[in-house]
Amino acid sequence: MNKLKIGVIFGSRSTEHDVSIITAIASIIKPINLTEEYEAVPIYIDKLGRWYCDPALADINLYTKDNIGNYLAKLRPVLLELNGGFNLIKPGLKDKKLKIDVIFPATHGTHGEDGELMGMLDLINVPYVGSEMPASVLSMDKSLAKIMAEFSGIPTSRFVFFYAKEFLNNQQAIMMRLKDLNFPLFVKPVHLGSSIAISRVTDNKALVNAIELAAHYDEKIIVEEAVNNLVEVTLPIMGNNELKPALLEQPLLKDEAFFDFNTKYMSGGKKGKNTKQGAQGYSKLPADLPKGLYKEAEEIALKVYRVLGLKGIARVDLLIDLKAKEVYFNEVNPLPGSLYAHNWQQAGTSSVSLISQLIKLAQERFEEKKELNTIFETNYLKQY
Ligand SMILES: Nc1ncnc2c1ncn2[C@@H]1O[C@H](COP(=O)(O)OP(=O)(O)O)[C@@H](O)[C@H]1O
Ligand SMILES: [Mg+2]
Repeated sequence: MNKLKIGVIFGSRSTEHDVSIITAIASIIKPINLTEEYEAVPIYIDKLGRWYCDPALADINLYTKDNIGNYLAKLRPVLLELNGGFNLIKPGLKDKKLKIDVIFPATHGTHGEDGELMGMLDLINVPYVGSEMPASVLSMDKSLAKIMAEFSGIPTSRFVFFYAKEFLNNQQAIMMRLKDLNFPLFVKPVHLGSSIAISRVTDNKALVNAIELAAHYDEKIIVEEAVNNLVEVTLPIMGNNELKPALLEQPLLKDEAFFDFNTKYMSGGKKGKNTKQGAQGYSKLPADLPKGLYKEAEEIALKVYRVLGLKGIARVDLLIDLKAKEVYFNEVNPLPGSLYAHNWQQAGTSSVSLISQLIKLAQERFEEKKELNTIFETNYLKQY
């Protein structure tokens, strides 16, 4: 049997480049190659945005041992032929054209998870795993996602957003707009992840400094009120039309002011009873919440998924004020790191089953979109 070729795209020009390599190799390529019906084709975009395709790029040692630069120097970047599907051309090789059947994006953050890649894949007309461009764009802009939530009656902490240039040109006007928000406040670049350039501030001086910091990383900035008595939870969800939630998970914080990049990816968070180490550090799985609150959080996350029009897979993050028993929407990750495979595993879905279901959802979605008319006969040209 000819195996379907699944092109796994990872890396790219993003602060989350390195996390993407691990997601692609450990959580996607490995299980794909354990199946009977699929074969993974690694497609790596380097930090400068050059595309490469070579079987050795699925070997983690190439990246962890710092050999990647030397290896890529020996390869020639691939070309993409746009007509009739996603066809890679490997310059210089005899059997140089490689037709990919389904794309599995494994890119996190900018130039990949943010909708750019998805727009291109739709234009090429190839099936791909996960959300399309519009839902990706909404999810990867923290202000747009919150606007969508607020409009749909989903609770989210009060916020103001503005462009970095507006702040640099007229700081006073922006500070006036921020006056209505109550400290403590969180300042965030709207597009980044991994807590990069996010600050929690309690006075105006720190607020100005935090906005200046965020402005180094993004053109758009959001300032929002902090949720007190905080318990954070996250829910991985799968599906196109019928949704399947995994388990509500509670990442455990260190004593630092909040969750930062190192807590998430390097030190592994706080250990303790009933905790488990996932790709994102230690967490309680399932989250330790009163039953009613657990159910409410799950329902809010599912509603966010629907309202944003997410497809395939995503992870919805919520902030809970445990004293007030209020659940707030925080943000969405349309392409969760490691696909949150540890959580799916505990919810009864193995990594192999997870990637197989996601590929099937991609194919179903592709078929569903084909049913929409793109041809409309008119007399427009004849009348010209
Ligand atoms: N409004 C808020 N109230 C309380 N804590 C917050 C708030 N916003 C963010 N945080 C804390 O900051 C962390 C990072 O913010 P988040 O919006 O999730 O950005 P990232 O995309 O970097 O994950 C959260 O995981 C949470 O610990
Ligand atoms: Mg987050």
